[in-house]
Amino acid sequence: MTGTPEAPGTPAAHAPLPTVVPAAGMPARVRIHEVGPRDGLQNEQTVVPVADKAEFVRRLAAAGLGTVEATSFVHPRWVPQLADAAELYELLAADPALRGVDLPVLVPNDRGLDRALELGARHVAVFASATESFARANLNRTVEESLAMFEPVAERAVAADARVRGYVSMCFGDPWEGAVPVEQVVRVCRALRDMGCAEISLGDTIGVATPGQVEALLAGLGAAGIGPDVLAVHFHDTYGQALSNTLTALRNGVTTVDASAGGLGGCPYARSATGNLATEDLLWMLRGLGIETGVDLDRLAATSGWMATRLGRPSPSRTVRALSVPSHKEP
Ligand code: HMG
Ligand code: MG
Repeated sequence: MTGTPEAPGTPAAHAPLPTVVPAAGMPARVRIHEVGPRDGLQNEQTVVPVADKAEFVRRLAAAGLGTVEATSFVHPRWVPQLADAAELYELLAADPALRGVDLPVLVPNDRGLDRALELGARHVAVFASATESFARANLNRTVEESLAMFEPVAERAVAADARVRGYVSMCFGDPWEGAVPVEQVVRVCRALRDMGCAEISLGDTIGVATPGQVEALLAGLGAAGIGPDVLAVHFHDTYGQALSNTLTALRNGVTTVDASAGGLGGCPYARSATGNLATEDLLWMLRGLGIETGVDLDRLAATSGWMATRLGRPSPSRTVRALSVPSHKEP
């Protein structure tokens, strides 16, 4: 601290941290699946240079994130922001600082899986849709055709000892179709589990979900034998509901949460999608609840601030903005 000594009676300087008060029915630990470099950067106007992307992943890992979704092996015409997937993955795989860090990548088909496995990826994700409209927009396929495309991908990945995650988009609402019935989501989750996906991430692609829906979907999945131990939640924050929805998922047994550093994100094939739940906002809540994550909030917020300068716009995360106010740092 600098400046003149404080007058008697002035409250002591304190770092901005939430007061820890645990709540009943919460897990002791949450695993954060960081998606900033993939879900975040895939939707930015600015194409970030590959060296900066590699540095972003390094800083995220150094902040304590053990899982950092790095990129997507998709057609570069579909997602030009991630056209450097191979170059980036090579840089990451060769970096001793990232040894032991889980670096999942998205692969929609055999071609994507071949590229990922050649570069040594050990964790891949296929990405299905609960709705026909989004399957068509995102994958140029019907739901059935896309599941048929993923089946050999999952099978070959498992045979190669790679872990497979299955995303399901539009679990809570779809911009073309409106409400999405729980049974429709359960059916796609079941198909992904049957083909070998170790974990299913439930996507609120356009951020419309509310907590009652989250509870209803988790109950529907539980009744179909898909329990919270194999589920992750993936909330976009379009309507400011991502944190409430996450809290509801935690109360219902889920312990893996997808989030994006600084709240970057969206989906290029769903116009109404905005950024993901910001990892810093999630951390603030988890820290207040006394839930372990292994992530250093200050280092993470500094990383998001650094990326925001590269993107030329402030971070949408409330926590990143609050922590960056100088008076908070030095009362
Ligand atoms: P298509 O046009 O039907 O592909 O696209 P195709 O199989 O007919 O092949 C056409 C051309 O693409 C061929 O090349 C293939 O070789 C090539 P050409 O002969 O024309 O030169 N090709 C590829 N090239 C590179 N890598 C590949 C690949 N596959 C084919 N893997 C395809 C089908 C699946 C490829 C396309 O639809 C695609 O790439 N889609 C990706 C869309 C995407 O990445 N969306 C964002 C991620 S999903 C998301 O953000 C949601 C999530 O966050 C959860 C949530 O929020 O809900 C996960
Ligand atoms: Mg997403």
